[in-house]
Amino acid sequence: MSILKQHGKIERNVTLLAALSLAVVTVGGLVEIVPLFYLNNTIEKVEGVRPYSPLELAGRNIYIREGCYVCHSQMIRPMRDEVERYGHYSLAAESMYDHPFQWGSKRTGPDLARIGGRYSDDWHVDHMRNPRDVVPESIMPGYPALETATLSYEFIADDLWANTMVGVPYTEEMIDLAIQDLETQANPEGDESDIEGLLARYPKAQARVFDGDSGKITELDALIAYMQMLGTLVDFSTYDATANAR
Ligand code: HEC
Repeated sequence: MSILKQHGKIERNVTLLAALSLAVVTVGGLVEIVPLFYLNNTIEKVEGVRPYSPLELAGRNIYIREGCYVCHSQMIRPMRDEVERYGHYSLAAESMYDHPFQWGSKRTGPDLARIGGRYSDDWHVDHMRNPRDVVPESIMPGYPALETATLSYEFIADDLWANTMVGVPYTEEMIDLAIQDLETQANPEGDESDIEGLLARYPKAQARVFDGDSGKITELDALIAYMQMLGTLVDFSTYDATANAR
């Protein structure tokens, strides 16, 4: 009872209440903030995570332009139902080269953080043309224009360069060869293609004609290349979640 009475004093004295609140918030803030100064990096290093290849980056731009993030998240939370449905929960490192990140805050459709490799390219082509052709009850809009729209990528090198400004480690070589790498990945049989170079710069990059038409590089090629790599960089059969805690 006496403690409550003491507290009554604080509640009746605005100045005392403000001063003590400030003290409490200060201590709480220090406890949360100070440890961060003693960590070199708040994002743990994870093997396999690399910057997007030029074609994947172009696809990501289309994903953003079309507002796919309005209905799709790209962050699997560490909860059992999510992990069972979508796979290993997302690591911070997996979106460290995302500017802006695509975590999303709404799921009208499923999470796409690990959509890579889940469906064939053909499935994606059909699904993008008209989702109801492959998922009859789908309420997702179709994006049929993407398969006829020629991908515009004359500024893709500038895009890589812009990303270096916010810390993505693209090298000068990657920027110089951006157009060649993009064309190689979308059409590996092309005359100028250099698969080895592409894979040296972007390990695990998948190179093929994604939309089934080698005639021209379309926006759909880029979007499918992007989706097919999502969540595929980290090898979770060898990933040790406790390694950073030690
Ligand atoms: C209006 C909301 C909405 C928008 C916008 C939207 N989607 Fe979807 N998406 C859905 C819904 C609902 C589903 C589940 C039904 C289906 O598979 O079609 C879905 C499913 C998907 C799937 C299959 C996921 C899985 O795990 O089966 C992919 C891939 C996908 N969307 C990609 C995209 C892309 C790329 C864009 C942007 C070009 C996009 N979506 C825009 C609502 C949306």
